[in-house]
Amino acid sequence: MTTHNLFALDAIEPGTARKVTVDGRQIALVRLDDDVYAIGDTCSHADVSLSEGFVEPDECAIECERHGALFDLRTGEPLSLPAVRPVPSYDVVVVDGEVILTIDEEADE
Ligand code: FES
Repeated sequence: MTTHNLFALDAIEPGTARKVTVDGRQIALVRLDDDVYAIGDTCSHADVSLSEGFVEPDECAIECERHGALFDLRTGEPLSLPAVRPVPSYDVVVVDGEVILTIDEEADE
């Protein structure tokens, strides 16, 4: 398990997503109000970056820009077709205004 101090919460606007690469993993960080969620950045339907998609705050989800699959930001589970497989989800917390990501390598793959 590794912990990564990423950036200040203020570096990401509410209702937007930002892509980071950590330990070779591409991860979409999404801010909703003062909470941050982290899921795998690559859509499970095709090789498309989810952080380029559309944040849906009411559903706590992000919509893939290519074909419109929705992914739950809390779990990485797809909420709509055409995606049927989840993307990874990661633990992320905000401590003293800093976004901190934890990767559990054993649970991840
Ligand atoms: S590539 Fe994401 S829904 Fe098709």
